[in-house]
Amino acid sequence: MKKIALITSGGDSPGMNACIRAVVKTCLHYSIVPFGIYDGFQGMIDRNGYEMQYADVDNIIHRGGTILGTARCKEFMELEGRLKAIDYLKSENIDGLVVIGGDGSFTGAYHLGKEMNIPIIGIPGTIDNDIYGTDHTIGYDTALNTVTDAVDKIRDTAASHHRIFFIEVMGRDAGFIALNSAISSGAENVLIPEKHMDIEKLVRDIKAQNKGRRGSIIMVAEGDEWGGALELMEKVKPFLPDYDLRCSVLGHIQRGGSPSALDRIIATRMGSYAIELLMEGKTNLMIGTEGEHLVTCSIEQGIKENSIPDLKKIKLLAKLRTK
Ligand code: F6P
Repeated sequence: MKKIALITSGGDSPGMNACIRAVVKTCLHYSIVPFGIYDGFQGMIDRNGYEMQYADVDNIIHRGGTILGTARCKEFMELEGRLKAIDYLKSENIDGLVVIGGDGSFTGAYHLGKEMNIPIIGIPGTIDNDIYGTDHTIGYDTALNTVTDAVDKIRDTAASHHRIFFIEVMGRDAGFIALNSAISSGAENVLIPEKHMDIEKLVRDIKAQNKGRRGSIIMVAEGDEWGGALELMEKVKPFLPDYDLRCSVLGHIQRGGSPSALDRIIATRMGSYAIELLMEGKTNLMIGTEGEHLVTCSIEQGIKENSIPDLKKIKLLAKLRTK
Protein backbone atom coordinates (compact mmCIF):
# COMPACT_ATOMS: atom_id res chain seq x y z
CA MET A 1 0.00 0.00 0.00
CA LYS A 2 1.60 3.20 -1.18
CA LYS A 3 -1.42 5.41 -1.78
CA ILE A 4 -4.89 5.11 -0.22
CA ALA A 5 -7.90 7.11 -1.38
CA LEU A 6 -10.59 8.27 0.99
CA ILE A 7 -14.12 9.55 0.47
CA THR A 8 -17.08 10.59 2.59
CA SER A 9 -20.34 9.78 0.86
CA GLY A 10 -24.12 10.04 1.31
CA GLY A 11 -25.61 12.18 4.09
CA ASP A 12 -22.97 13.88 6.23
CA SER A 13 -22.77 12.88 9.88
CA PRO A 14 -20.97 14.33 12.91
CA GLY A 15 -17.69 12.48 13.41
CA MET A 16 -16.83 12.09 9.73
CA ASN A 17 -14.04 14.66 10.18
CA ALA A 18 -12.65 12.76 13.16
CA CYS A 19 -12.57 9.69 10.94
CA ILE A 20 -10.85 11.51 8.07
CA ARG A 21 -8.26 12.76 10.54
CA ALA A 22 -7.56 9.24 11.79
CA VAL A 23 -7.30 7.81 8.27
CA VAL A 24 -4.89 10.55 7.16
CA LYS A 25 -2.72 10.44 10.27
CA THR A 26 -2.51 6.64 10.28
CA CYS A 27 -1.52 6.64 6.59
CA LEU A 28 1.19 9.21 7.22
CA HIS A 29 2.38 7.24 10.26
CA TYR A 30 3.00 4.24 7.97
CA SER A 31 4.45 6.41 5.16
CA ILE A 32 1.41 5.84 2.94
CA VAL A 33 0.08 8.75 0.89
CA PRO A 34 -3.52 9.59 1.88
CA PHE A 35 -5.49 10.82 -1.11
CA GLY A 36 -8.68 12.70 -0.26
CA ILE A 37 -11.36 12.84 -2.94
CA TYR A 38 -14.00 15.56 -2.70
CA ASP A 39 -17.74 14.93 -2.73
CA GLY A 40 -17.79 11.16 -2.53
CA PHE A 41 -18.12 9.13 -5.71
CA GLN A 42 -18.96 12.33 -7.60
CA GLY A 43 -15.39 13.54 -7.00
CA MET A 44 -14.01 10.33 -8.51
CA ILE A 45 -16.02 10.98 -11.66
CA ASP A 46 -14.98 14.66 -11.67
CA ARG A 47 -11.31 13.73 -10.97
CA ASN A 48 -11.24 15.95 -7.93
CA GLY A 49 -8.76 14.72 -5.32
CA TYR A 50 -5.53 15.73 -3.58
CA GLU A 51 -2.70 14.31 -1.52
CA MET A 52 -3.40 15.12 2.10
CA GLN A 53 -0.94 16.32 4.72
CA TYR A 54 -1.03 16.58 8.52
CA ALA A 55 -2.00 20.25 8.19
CA ASP A 56 -5.18 19.32 6.31
CA VAL A 57 -6.57 17.53 9.33
CA ASP A 58 -5.40 19.85 12.09
CA ASN A 59 -8.25 21.12 14.27
CA ILE A 60 -11.04 19.18 12.62
CA ILE A 61 -11.77 16.49 15.22
CA HIS A 62 -14.49 18.63 16.81
CA ARG A 63 -16.10 19.87 13.62
CA GLY A 64 -19.38 18.56 12.21
CA GLY A 65 -19.89 17.93 8.48
CA THR A 66 -17.00 16.69 6.37
CA ILE A 67 -14.04 18.69 5.08
CA LEU A 68 -14.02 16.47 1.99
CA GLY A 69 -17.62 17.26 1.13
CA THR A 70 -20.13 14.59 0.24
CA ALA A 71 -22.82 13.79 -2.30
CA ARG A 72 -25.47 11.28 -3.24
CA CYS A 73 -24.15 10.46 -6.70
CA LYS A 74 -26.73 9.18 -9.22
CA GLU A 75 -24.15 8.86 -12.01
CA PHE A 76 -22.18 6.34 -9.96
CA MET A 77 -25.20 4.03 -9.86
CA GLU A 78 -24.63 3.37 -13.58
CA LEU A 79 -21.70 1.38 -14.95
CA GLU A 80 -20.71 4.28 -17.21
CA GLY A 81 -20.19 6.55 -14.20
CA ARG A 82 -18.25 3.90 -12.32
CA LEU A 83 -15.95 3.35 -15.30
CA LYS A 84 -15.02 7.05 -15.19
CA ALA A 85 -14.25 6.69 -11.48
CA ILE A 86 -12.15 3.57 -12.08
CA ASP A 87 -10.18 5.40 -14.74
CA TYR A 88 -9.42 8.19 -12.28
CA LEU A 89 -8.37 5.82 -9.47
CA LYS A 90 -6.08 3.98 -11.88
CA SER A 91 -4.54 7.19 -13.22
CA GLU A 92 -3.75 8.23 -9.63
CA ASN A 93 -2.22 4.80 -8.83
CA ILE A 94 -4.56 4.22 -5.91
CA ASP A 95 -3.82 0.95 -4.06
CA GLY A 96 -6.74 0.95 -1.64
CA LEU A 97 -9.94 2.84 -0.87
CA VAL A 98 -11.73 3.84 2.34
CA VAL A 99 -15.42 4.72 2.01
CA ILE A 100 -17.10 6.47 4.93
CA GLY A 101 -20.86 6.49 4.46
CA GLY A 102 -24.17 4.70 4.73
CA ASP A 103 -26.06 1.99 2.94
CA GLY A 104 -26.11 3.64 -0.49
CA SER A 105 -22.39 4.40 -0.31
CA PHE A 106 -21.62 0.79 0.58
CA THR A 107 -23.71 -0.39 -2.36
CA GLY A 108 -21.57 1.83 -4.61
CA ALA A 109 -18.41 0.47 -2.98
CA TYR A 110 -19.63 -3.09 -3.46
CA HIS A 111 -20.12 -2.60 -7.22
CA LEU A 112 -16.80 -0.79 -7.56
CA GLY A 113 -15.06 -3.66 -5.77
CA LYS A 114 -16.53 -6.14 -8.23
CA GLU A 115 -15.61 -4.11 -11.30
CA MET A 116 -12.12 -2.98 -10.29
CA ASN A 117 -9.55 -5.03 -8.52
CA ILE A 118 -9.05 -2.62 -5.65
CA PRO A 119 -9.12 -3.37 -1.91
CA ILE A 120 -11.95 -1.45 -0.22
CA ILE A 121 -12.85 -0.92 3.44
CA GLY A 122 -16.20 0.62 4.44
CA ILE A 123 -16.73 2.69 7.58
CA PRO A 124 -20.36 3.24 8.65
CA GLY A 125 -21.14 6.96 8.82
CA THR A 126 -24.80 7.95 9.04
CA ILE A 127 -26.97 9.43 11.76
CA ASP A 128 -29.64 6.80 11.05
CA ASN A 129 -27.70 3.87 12.59
CA ASP A 130 -29.40 1.58 10.08
CA ILE A 131 -26.40 -0.46 9.00
CA TYR A 132 -26.06 -4.15 9.68
CA GLY A 133 -22.89 -5.31 11.44
CA THR A 134 -22.39 -2.48 13.91
CA ASP A 135 -23.91 -1.33 17.19
CA HIS A 136 -23.17 2.28 16.31
CA THR A 137 -22.64 4.25 13.13
CA ILE A 138 -20.61 7.45 13.20
CA GLY A 139 -22.91 10.40 13.93
CA TYR A 140 -25.78 8.50 15.50
CA ASP A 141 -24.88 9.30 19.11
CA THR A 142 -24.51 13.01 18.34
CA ALA A 143 -27.85 13.05 16.52
CA LEU A 144 -29.52 11.36 19.50
CA ASN A 145 -28.09 14.00 21.83
CA THR A 146 -29.21 16.80 19.50
CA VAL A 147 -32.74 15.41 19.38
CA THR A 148 -32.85 14.90 23.15
CA ASP A 149 -31.77 18.49 23.71
CA ALA A 150 -34.41 19.80 21.28
CA VAL A 151 -37.19 17.72 22.84
CA ASP A 152 -36.22 18.94 26.32
CA LYS A 153 -36.92 22.46 25.07
CA ILE A 154 -40.19 21.53 23.36
CA ARG A 155 -41.26 19.74 26.55
CA ASP A 156 -41.20 23.03 28.44
CA THR A 157 -43.89 24.39 26.10
CA ALA A 158 -45.78 21.09 25.99
CA ALA A 159 -46.01 21.07 29.78
CA SER A 160 -46.75 24.78 30.21
CA HIS A 161 -49.55 24.81 27.61
CA HIS A 162 -50.73 21.21 28.24
CA ARG A 163 -50.14 20.48 24.56
CA ILE A 164 -49.59 17.29 22.64
CA PHE A 165 -46.51 17.52 20.46
CA PHE A 166 -45.80 15.26 17.49
CA ILE A 167 -42.06 15.55 16.91
CA GLU A 168 -40.63 14.28 13.66
CA VAL A 169 -37.05 13.06 13.54
CA MET A 170 -34.93 11.69 10.70
CA GLY A 171 -35.02 8.06 9.72
CA ARG A 172 -36.35 7.48 6.23
CA ASP A 173 -36.23 3.72 6.61
CA ALA A 174 -35.25 3.22 10.23
CA GLY A 175 -36.56 4.05 13.67
CA PHE A 176 -33.33 4.05 15.70
CA ILE A 177 -33.30 7.80 16.33
CA ALA A 178 -37.05 7.98 17.05
CA LEU A 179 -37.09 4.99 19.38
CA ASN A 180 -34.01 5.79 21.40
CA SER A 181 -34.70 9.52 21.61
CA ALA A 182 -38.21 8.63 22.80
CA ILE A 183 -36.57 6.88 25.74
CA SER A 184 -33.93 9.54 26.38
CA SER A 185 -36.45 12.38 26.26
CA GLY A 186 -39.21 10.64 28.21
CA ALA A 187 -41.72 10.60 25.34
CA GLU A 188 -45.02 8.83 25.86
CA ASN A 189 -45.17 7.13 22.49
CA VAL A 190 -43.20 6.49 19.32
CA LEU A 191 -43.96 5.66 15.71
CA ILE A 192 -41.29 3.94 13.62
CA PRO A 193 -41.24 2.28 10.19
CA GLU A 194 -40.49 -1.14 11.69
CA LYS A 195 -43.71 -1.42 13.72
CA HIS A 196 -47.37 -0.84 12.93
CA MET A 197 -49.19 1.57 15.26
CA ASP A 198 -52.93 1.35 15.64
CA ILE A 199 -54.39 4.88 15.50
CA GLU A 200 -57.25 4.07 17.88
CA LYS A 201 -54.80 2.80 20.44
CA LEU A 202 -52.64 5.90 20.03
CA VAL A 203 -55.70 8.09 20.65
CA ARG A 204 -56.58 6.07 23.76
CA ASP A 205 -53.01 6.42 25.07
CA ILE A 206 -53.03 10.17 24.47
CA LYS A 207 -56.34 10.60 26.29
CA ALA A 208 -55.12 8.54 29.25
CA GLN A 209 -51.88 10.48 29.46
CA ASN A 210 -53.69 13.80 29.33
CA LYS A 211 -56.36 13.32 31.97
CA GLY A 212 -54.38 15.70 34.18
CA ARG A 213 -52.80 18.93 32.95
CA ARG A 214 -49.83 17.15 31.50
CA GLY A 215 -48.97 17.51 27.85
CA SER A 216 -47.46 14.73 25.74
CA ILE A 217 -44.52 14.05 23.52
CA ILE A 218 -44.98 11.60 20.63
CA MET A 219 -41.83 10.87 18.63
CA VAL A 220 -42.36 10.10 14.94
CA ALA A 221 -39.75 8.79 12.51
CA GLU A 222 -40.04 10.57 9.15
CA GLY A 223 -40.45 7.18 7.47
CA ASP A 224 -43.31 5.96 9.67
CA GLU A 225 -46.35 4.37 8.02
CA TRP A 226 -48.51 7.52 8.24
CA GLY A 227 -46.00 9.70 6.37
CA GLY A 228 -44.48 11.75 9.19
CA ALA A 229 -45.55 13.85 12.17
CA LEU A 230 -47.78 16.37 10.38
CA GLU A 231 -49.73 13.69 8.57
CA LEU A 232 -50.11 11.71 11.78
CA MET A 233 -51.33 14.76 13.67
CA GLU A 234 -53.96 15.47 10.97
CA LYS A 235 -55.05 11.83 11.17
CA VAL A 236 -55.68 11.86 14.93
CA LYS A 237 -57.03 15.44 15.15
CA PRO A 238 -60.70 14.52 14.54
CA PHE A 239 -60.55 12.07 17.47
CA LEU A 240 -59.04 14.64 19.84
CA PRO A 241 -61.18 17.79 19.41
CA ASP A 242 -60.61 18.97 22.98
CA TYR A 243 -56.82 18.81 22.83
CA ASP A 244 -54.23 21.30 21.71
CA LEU A 245 -52.05 19.52 19.13
CA ARG A 246 -48.79 20.78 17.65
CA CYS A 247 -46.22 19.38 15.26
CA SER A 248 -42.49 20.05 15.16
CA VAL A 249 -40.14 18.74 12.46
CA LEU A 250 -36.54 18.82 13.68
CA GLY A 251 -34.98 18.35 10.22
CA HIS A 252 -31.33 18.88 9.41
CA ILE A 253 -30.26 20.24 12.79
CA GLN A 254 -29.97 16.51 13.55
CA ARG A 255 -27.17 16.06 11.03
CA GLY A 256 -24.91 18.92 12.10
CA GLY A 257 -22.93 20.08 15.08
CA SER A 258 -19.86 19.08 16.99
CA PRO A 259 -19.60 15.29 17.39
CA SER A 260 -20.09 13.68 20.80
CA ALA A 261 -17.15 12.04 22.56
CA LEU A 262 -18.52 8.61 21.62
CA ASP A 263 -18.72 9.49 17.92
CA ARG A 264 -15.20 10.93 17.95
CA ILE A 265 -13.86 7.80 19.61
CA ILE A 266 -15.48 5.26 17.29
CA ALA A 267 -14.67 7.41 14.25
CA THR A 268 -11.01 7.62 15.24
CA ARG A 269 -10.71 3.91 16.01
CA MET A 270 -12.48 2.85 12.81
CA GLY A 271 -10.46 5.24 10.63
CA SER A 272 -7.16 3.96 11.91
CA TYR A 273 -8.26 0.32 11.78
CA ALA A 274 -9.33 0.70 8.14
CA ILE A 275 -5.75 1.49 7.14
CA GLU A 276 -4.37 -1.43 9.12
CA LEU A 277 -6.86 -3.80 7.48
CA LEU A 278 -5.78 -2.58 4.03
CA MET A 279 -2.13 -3.06 5.01
CA GLU A 280 -2.95 -6.65 6.04
CA GLY A 281 -4.33 -7.24 2.56
CA LYS A 282 -7.98 -7.31 3.63
CA THR A 283 -10.68 -6.13 1.26
CA ASN A 284 -14.45 -5.71 0.86
CA LEU A 285 -14.91 -5.42 4.60
CA MET A 286 -17.03 -3.11 6.64
CA ILE A 287 -15.94 -2.13 10.13
CA GLY A 288 -18.43 -2.11 13.00
CA THR A 289 -18.56 -1.97 16.78
CA GLU A 290 -19.75 -4.77 19.03
CA GLY A 291 -19.72 -3.50 22.58
CA GLU A 292 -16.20 -2.19 23.17
CA HIS A 293 -14.70 -4.09 20.24
CA LEU A 294 -14.19 -3.32 16.59
CA VAL A 295 -15.47 -6.09 14.33
CA THR A 296 -15.79 -6.63 10.59
CA CYS A 297 -18.23 -8.21 8.17
CA SER A 298 -18.27 -8.24 4.39
CA ILE A 299 -19.59 -5.12 2.68
CA GLU A 300 -21.99 -7.43 0.85
CA GLN A 301 -23.46 -8.65 4.14
CA GLY A 302 -23.60 -5.05 5.39
CA ILE A 303 -25.84 -4.01 2.50
CA LYS A 304 -27.92 -7.18 2.19
CA GLU A 305 -28.85 -7.75 5.82
CA ASN A 306 -31.26 -5.52 7.70
CA SER A 307 -30.57 -3.75 10.92
CA ILE A 308 -33.61 -3.09 13.07
CA PRO A 309 -33.91 -1.47 16.48
CA ASP A 310 -34.81 -3.47 19.56
CA LEU A 311 -38.61 -3.43 19.48
CA LYS A 312 -38.76 -4.39 23.17
CA LYS A 313 -38.04 -0.73 23.81
CA ILE A 314 -41.58 0.10 22.62
CA LYS A 315 -42.89 -2.05 25.47
CA LEU A 316 -40.63 -0.17 27.85
CA LEU A 317 -42.27 3.11 26.79
CA ALA A 318 -45.69 1.52 27.35
CA LYS A 319 -44.74 0.49 30.90
CA LEU A 320 -43.73 4.05 31.71
CA ARG A 321 -46.87 5.62 30.26
CA THR A 322 -49.42 7.19 32.63
CA LYS A 323 -52.59 5.04 32.76
O1 F6P B 1 -29.49 9.09 5.44
C1 F6P B 1 -29.51 10.00 6.48
C2 F6P B 1 -30.67 10.92 6.40
O2 F6P B 1 -30.44 11.82 7.42
C3 F6P B 1 -32.08 10.33 6.47
O3 F6P B 1 -32.52 10.07 7.77
C4 F6P B 1 -32.89 11.40 5.81
O4 F6P B 1 -34.08 10.87 5.31
C5 F6P B 1 -32.00 11.83 4.72
O5 F6P B 1 -30.68 11.65 5.19
C6 F6P B 1 -32.18 13.22 4.23
O6 F6P B 1 -31.30 13.43 3.18
P1 F6P B 1 -31.08 14.78 2.41
O7 F6P B 1 -30.34 15.69 3.31
O8 F6P B 1 -30.27 14.37 1.22
O9 F6P B 1 -32.43 15.30 2.07
